[in-house]
Amino acid sequence: MTAPLQNDTFLRALLKQPVEYTPIWMMRQAGRYLPEYKATREFAGNFLELCYSIDLATEVTLQPIDRYNLDAAILFSDILTVPDAMGLGLHFVAGEGPKFERPLQHEADIDLLTVPDMEKLRYVFDAVASIRKAIDGRVPLIGFSGSPFTLACYMIEGGGSKDWRTVKTMLYSRPDLLHKILHINAQTVTEYLNTQIACGAQAVQIFDTWGGVLSHTAFQEFSLSYIKQIISGLKREHEDRRVPVIVFTKGGGQWLELLADTGADALGLDWTTDITQARARVGDKVALQGNMDPFALFGTHKSICAEVARILKGYGQGSGHVFNLGHGINQFTDPENVEIFVEAVHDLSRPYHQ
Ligand code: CP3
Repeated sequence: MTAPLQNDTFLRALLKQPVEYTPIWMMRQAGRYLPEYKATREFAGNFLELCYSIDLATEVTLQPIDRYNLDAAILFSDILTVPDAMGLGLHFVAGEGPKFERPLQHEADIDLLTVPDMEKLRYVFDAVASIRKAIDGRVPLIGFSGSPFTLACYMIEGGGSKDWRTVKTMLYSRPDLLHKILHINAQTVTEYLNTQIACGAQAVQIFDTWGGVLSHTAFQEFSLSYIKQIISGLKREHEDRRVPVIVFTKGGGQWLELLADTGADALGLDWTTDITQARARVGDKVALQGNMDPFALFGTHKSICAEVARILKGYGQGSGHVFNLGHGINQFTDPENVEIFVEAVHDLSRPYHQ
């Protein structure tokens, strides 16, 4: 038996149901800006070992929840566990980020790509179940995955990139090969998220971190259509509650109307979009999540509160807003400023829900 949920503000806001204050969580809320995270990672040896260990992944998921009044926890893992399970050989090079030993650059390798056995990702599902138990109903747990296109970026390029030249070369010269990868990724992500939901994820977020590097037409063909396909295959009801889906396309501000038609319950906004205009454009279709510049946390206590107040006013009266940063929290952020930030969102938002 899982403990009853004591704070469902986040889930209600995603469904535009009345709330008493604007809920908040932060992308990358468990991470290197927290001294306790750094200590646990040191103990694990490296980042991937932290992801593979159910107990340590549970521990770091709860660290930001224990420290701050956040309204949701996010599973500690990485989007690249999926291509890792596909056999691409993931490792993290210190200071350089993720690398794949066997990137997908030749047709023969792409032909061999298949949906992995979900047993290879059992450690993620076990972590979800373990975290749900450890949270004990304090706040809901968010599961997540990369979008098919964002995963394909790393799978093809073999690591991060400034311009994604190898990916775009394939997109323009052999779109059929890219579609093959995206098709398999979409099937995999659907199964992956559905299993997270079955194991206890109470909302899910699709991280489309690199969708924004595509042209207007390419975005629809290579990212949006596969996100739509995933959402239509997701289990939306579990434990007698709706499981909301959030789509975050970084740099996707110009496509909000298209994204609002994917079937998502909420859209993540980066900091470049005006939230007042965003709300007017999506209307009643979806809730919005965001959208403070992560570097606003490098200001003074006064400027942080002013930025929170500006965004809350920008969204305006009523439910349908989940406060967040426009991208992951930076590793050099002062943990004390996060405290100020979270409290400011709660305190300053109450008048908008009366
Ligand atoms: O949000 C959370 O707290 C949950 C955990 C989470 C991580 N990565 C942990 C992590 C989530 C949701 C992700 C998503 C992720 N991973 C994305 C999409 C979101 C985004 O930030 O755009 C992407 C593109 C990745 C791939 C990835 N993982 C990169 C490029 C890197 C290296 C660069 C970096 O930011 O450190 C990682 C490593 C990573 N994933 C860390 C953490 C806490 C840092 C690892 C460490 O050194 O401890």
